[in-house]
Amino acid sequence: MLCIQCHLEVSEGKRFCSECGSAQFLQCPKCNAASPIGKSFCADCGTSIGGTPSPSHQTASVVADRTPDTANDAKDVKSGERKVITVLFADIKGSMELIENLDPEDARAIVEPALQLMIDAVLHFGGYVVQTTGDGIFAMFGAPVVHEDHSHRALYAALRMQAELKEYSARISADGHQPVQGRVGVHTGEAVVRPLKLGNGQIEYTPIGHSTSLGARLQTLAPVGSIAASEAIRQLCEGSCEFNDLGLAKVKGVSDLVKVYEVTGLGKQRTRMQRSAGQGFSKFVGRARELDSLRYAAQQAQAGSGQVVAIVAEAGTGKSRLILELMNDFRSTTKVLETSSVSHGKTSYCLPLIELLQSYFGIEAQDNEQKRRGKVSDKIENLDPQLKDIQPYLLNLLNLNDEDDPLLQMDELTLQSQTWESLKRLLVRESVNQTLTLIFEDLHWIDDQTQEFLNLLADSIGTAKILLIVNYRPEYIHRWNSKSYFTQIRLDPLGDATAEEMLTAMLGDNEQLSDLKRLIFEKSSGTPFFMEEMVKALFDDGTLARDGNVMLTKKLDELDIPSSVQAILAARIDRLPAHAKEILQTLSVIGKEFSISLISAVTASSPEKLDKQLKELQLGEFIYEKLISGEKGYIFKSALTQDVAYNTLLIERRKILHEKIGVSIEAVYHFSIDDHIAALAYHYGRSNNIDAGIQYLTHSGRQKLMEARKKSELISHNSLTKAESPEAASVVDDQVATLDFLDSIWRYPVKSMAGEALQSVFVSDKGIVGDRVYAFVNEESNRTAVVRKWAESLLNYHPYFTSEPDPNSPVPPLRIVMPSGDTLSSVDSDLEEKISTLFERKLKLMTTAPPGLLIEVPVGTLGGALSEVTEFPLAGGAPAGAFFDYGCLHLIASSTLNHFQKKYPQGRFDVRRFRPNLVIHSDAEPFVENAWVGRNIMIGQELILRVSIPCPRCISVTLAQDDLPRDPSILRAIAEQNMCDLGDFGTLPCAGVYAEVIKAGHIQRGDTLRFVD
Ligand SMILES: Nc1ncnc2c1ncn2[C@@H]1O[C@H](COP(=O)(O)OP(=O)(O)OP(=O)(O)O)[C@@H](O)[C@H]1O
Ligand SMILES: [Mg+2]
Repeated sequence: MLCIQCHLEVSEGKRFCSECGSAQFLQCPKCNAASPIGKSFCADCGTSIGGTPSPSHQTASVVADRTPDTANDAKDVKSGERKVITVLFADIKGSMELIENLDPEDARAIVEPALQLMIDAVLHFGGYVVQTTGDGIFAMFGAPVVHEDHSHRALYAALRMQAELKEYSARISADGHQPVQGRVGVHTGEAVVRPLKLGNGQIEYTPIGHSTSLGARLQTLAPVGSIAASEAIRQLCEGSCEFNDLGLAKVKGVSDLVKVYEVTGLGKQRTRMQRSAGQGFSKFVGRARELDSLRYAAQQAQAGSGQVVAIVAEAGTGKSRLILELMNDFRSTTKVLETSSVSHGKTSYCLPLIELLQSYFGIEAQDNEQKRRGKVSDKIENLDPQLKDIQPYLLNLLNLNDEDDPLLQMDELTLQSQTWESLKRLLVRESVNQTLTLIFEDLHWIDDQTQEFLNLLADSIGTAKILLIVNYRPEYIHRWNSKSYFTQIRLDPLGDATAEEMLTAMLGDNEQLSDLKRLIFEKSSGTPFFMEEMVKALFDDGTLARDGNVMLTKKLDELDIPSSVQAILAARIDRLPAHAKEILQTLSVIGKEFSISLISAVTASSPEKLDKQLKELQLGEFIYEKLISGEKGYIFKSALTQDVAYNTLLIERRKILHEKIGVSIEAVYHFSIDDHIAALAYHYGRSNNIDAGIQYLTHSGRQKLMEARKKSELISHNSLTKAESPEAASVVDDQVATLDFLDSIWRYPVKSMAGEALQSVFVSDKGIVGDRVYAFVNEESNRTAVVRKWAESLLNYHPYFTSEPDPNSPVPPLRIVMPSGDTLSSVDSDLEEKISTLFERKLKLMTTAPPGLLIEVPVGTLGGALSEVTEFPLAGGAPAGAFFDYGCLHLIASSTLNHFQKKYPQGRFDVRRFRPNLVIHSDAEPFVENAWVGRNIMIGQELILRVSIPCPRCISVTLAQDDLPRDPSILRAIAEQNMCDLGDFGTLPCAGVYAEVIKAGHIQRGDTLRFVD
């Protein structure tokens, strides 16, 4: 038989694994009697004990650490959630050949046990079997119950199923059957997990997403009998498992090659501290006060006054590291025995105690049973011959007793209490010779039996030279507070200065990195593990590089959440009861802070209920109370928690909540709405109510503009004083002289259709020759369209001239490449008919704009002044007869486009969205074009322009074209960054400027710009 935990051989009939100590039986929840794994009911009292459940009956009894109850699990995901999960696909390789000549019943007898052991392995590590096929399973870890170590659990399950399959295969081969071999694929990534209610009332969960498919593909890439894992898995589990690089593989449905690894076994670095030690610890910072308290307790213990010290803090705050630092001082003067609970260990009987004893007796993995026994008896004999009577109990705990040991006949309760007593005596006796430091880590995962022993020990060490140090996360509860020799040390995240010290130790003191350090500190709220992981992720993705010093390779305004951190925070959020979690998610959409009246309006909960739920979140330290504009309110304790909670929501749900919040702000702050315009623009802008979003964005931009004006008045006042010095004046002159050059030239042969990039061109007084010389005009209404729905797809039509246009000759004919790839020609007699059919209105191709031609725009497109106008005259700032919306040349600076891109990195600020004629390469500040208004600019040696007005933007920049997706946030970003007062048009989101031609001339890419006014 193989151990259910570590897969090593367990002697037949033994109840514990001699290697890892895990129980090899199920314990009856009613009478505590032990039953073999696989049984469904207790043989002593008939109570259901779970056995080895089938996927549709995945019961809590064998699923480790199901912290939230099953009812809550169901509610949690009632409309689906985004979760980072690990998927595991396993199948029996060559099942067809295996059962080829077998009767179906015999075949089933061979395949079913193999499937069952796969299922058992998944359930043992808290996974969820999504589906079983005839010869394989699909399982996930991390949902519906979130475990912060879901990727580790999946690999442990995979290793276990492979080990068991090997053993099973050997057994059936001995009976003359074909051997059985399995392949497993494991991957971690984001998925939407949706519940599905079955007819029988049960709920099943199915993950949907790309990561699921990749997991399935990896399985097919796994060498027979092995486990294939992705790079994402390796990054999370390196150290706790061994990986063998299998190289790059082409995977169907994935454009890039995928890195594949074989998981070859368990690694040596099982705990975070071991992994940190493997990678090199960060420089230890701060914690002087806490170390003092620990040292004081250690001195008390050395003086014979036993102490219990508990270190409590959230994950990653530094509990284990603090102990490690203390032990650096004390290891030489005391005997140290340390152990810890593991997250999937709640069902493993006394695992921490067994580990502690194995280390005390010096038992090693390769020792056989006899050697182990010898080590135990020698050590006890040397310590104190009078302790001989405790030996059988300790041997039994270590699963080293004889089969005919009378202890095995003893009733379970008596045996257990005698065992605890024996262990306690051993440790107390050991402390007579020297101070004993006992370290029990991670009590939040402790199993009941170890807890029972710890309670007994804590009661008995008051007069022993024992220092018992434990650590745990805040959710763990114990009963030691009343003891005079109990001390609790609460660790807070690192403060500003200590965090800075830690980051400087990791990143050096390069000035270039000070903004990044601040960003990391703010995001992580000073939690050392989060800071370490963020830095590691930045190195991994190449944002940071080391070349003697650490350098930033690109500028960044936002930090991604590393998956290790995401897993910890998501698990914490999932441990909340369903109603509290739902409130937390809603709060995450409202923002970092929120007043109680706004929360009440959004949630529509009764005040008592809401108060209770918020208290729950406060107790869990997710939020703190804070006065918001004189009213009671709350603030998220950590920005990361807010981000993770927000990320769990489906995008559709986020949009609904944003709109609800917008409506609530309008209602709650009815009389002070001007103070909340920015918040309204933010929420509506992320809802389905884009129109309201744009309306508020315009207002919000106007507010920003006014603030900016105030600031710039201040700046220009200051700079005037500075400019009085001759040095300052020369700097100003230099900047003007060395400015920018022409980066690209664009022409749009047909108004509203795609443009073409040019190397050089002649610019006449009517603009670039050939620019917007054609337009499709709705002849009946005398209107052309800019952003009407019907006209959107014009952007996907690519026109080009059959010969280069000349300013003194008629416009040459056109060819138009349609989205289908077919081509139309302006000389074809049926061109207009074809285009009119495609666009369902009568369109005429014109080369001169008829007098009075109007532009159609959707209601409210330009916000403010145009909210009620749907059309206006064409080419207000260009010569009559042209098809320009306003001016005949449109310029934009690269610094402006780059700035938008930085502010909204997910968006694609492709120049095609802006339809400029000239893109000016500029290293100046963004929106430098605004300052060109009214100035004359010479480009190259001939052309002189006069910049007339900033270019207002409407939803045309958000439209899809070719490979660019539709993206309403593009306009939002513009409005947030650059609102300009355009007189009668109102204050509008702008990007780039219009210009008129003062002197015609040739230009080419690379031409420099000079001001000539
Ligand atoms: N004061 C500190 N100075 C420098 N690094 C620290 C400090 N405290 C913690 N760290 C580092 O942060 C990481 C997380 O610390 P640690 O593992 O001790 O957290 P923990 O509170 O024990 O978390 P968990 O609850 O998950 O066990 C480790 O890599 C550790 O070396
Ligand atoms: Mg720890």
